[in-house]
Amino acid sequence: MRLENETALITGAASGIGRSTAERFAEEGARVIVTDVDGDGGEAVADDLAADGAEAEFHELDVTDGEAFHAVVDAVDESYGLDVLVNNAGTGHPSSRLEDTADSMRDFVIDVNVKGVWNGCHAALPHMKDRGEGAIVNVGSLASILGLPKQAAYSLSKGAVLNLTRAIAAEAGPYGVRANTVCPGFTDTALLEQYLAGRDDPEAAREAMAEEYPLKRLAEPEEVADAILFLASDEASFVSGHGLVVDGGFSTC
Ligand code: NAI
Repeated sequence: MRLENETALITGAASGIGRSTAERFAEEGARVIVTDVDGDGGEAVADDLAADGAEAEFHELDVTDGEAFHAVVDAVDESYGLDVLVNNAGTGHPSSRLEDTADSMRDFVIDVNVKGVWNGCHAALPHMKDRGEGAIVNVGSLASILGLPKQAAYSLSKGAVLNLTRAIAAEAGPYGVRANTVCPGFTDTALLEQYLAGRDDPEAAREAMAEEYPLKRLAEPEEVADAILFLASDEASFVSGHGLVVDGGFSTC
């Protein structure tokens, strides 16, 4: 699954799944464009990759800022040609019933999780279509295919990501561009820590969650990164519009 001479831009790459994805792409020889709203964290990831011999650079980017997203994508495409876009940046929200969820929280989640992905696709698609090739991988969630209680805003946003991806696959396929979604189950990252922090006993809650998975554990970010890598690679050359569930079998039983 080598990605030599390929350039991949990954959003939210300072932490968790995005960071692991940046590391896996670098291992496969890709030039990695690390982006994140977290300047120090993103810089540190790019520095670590470069120290290990990878070609990596950091661009501070808030995915909710469409103009800024266009500027970064345009610059990267002009310098190297953008082959892969991984729209990974995302946010959660404290668990609450729909009727107790503030409009501002709903809007915040949609801004990051939906408009952020939209902005990335909006910026990258013209370049990829012009060149007649490219792969977009959007990070959805089990909440793309399941409705999670007390996670209505998150479910709304991640459902939108899956169907947006399908629309892009249909629209951009004739130009040689593929688009897919990865739908992870609970994955051991800072986002999960935040989710668990709202519980009375976070460690007990984590163990109870893991117990519900057939594999009796949660995902490691590297396992999600491997699925993203596959969807971005030539090994997935005829896979488009797909939602690849990475949940240890949770949603099938
Ligand atoms: P994380 O919290 O470890 O990493 C998220 C990264 O996104 C952080 O570096 C953060 O600074 C960045 N970010 C947040 N808002 C941003 C913005 N507006 N612009 C640019 N960067 C921004 O979380 P994790 O778990 O690695 O999440 C990555 C993706 O995976 C998200 O889309 C999330 O919804 C999704 N996901 C996570 C699951 C989990 O259990 N951890 C399960 C299913 C999906």
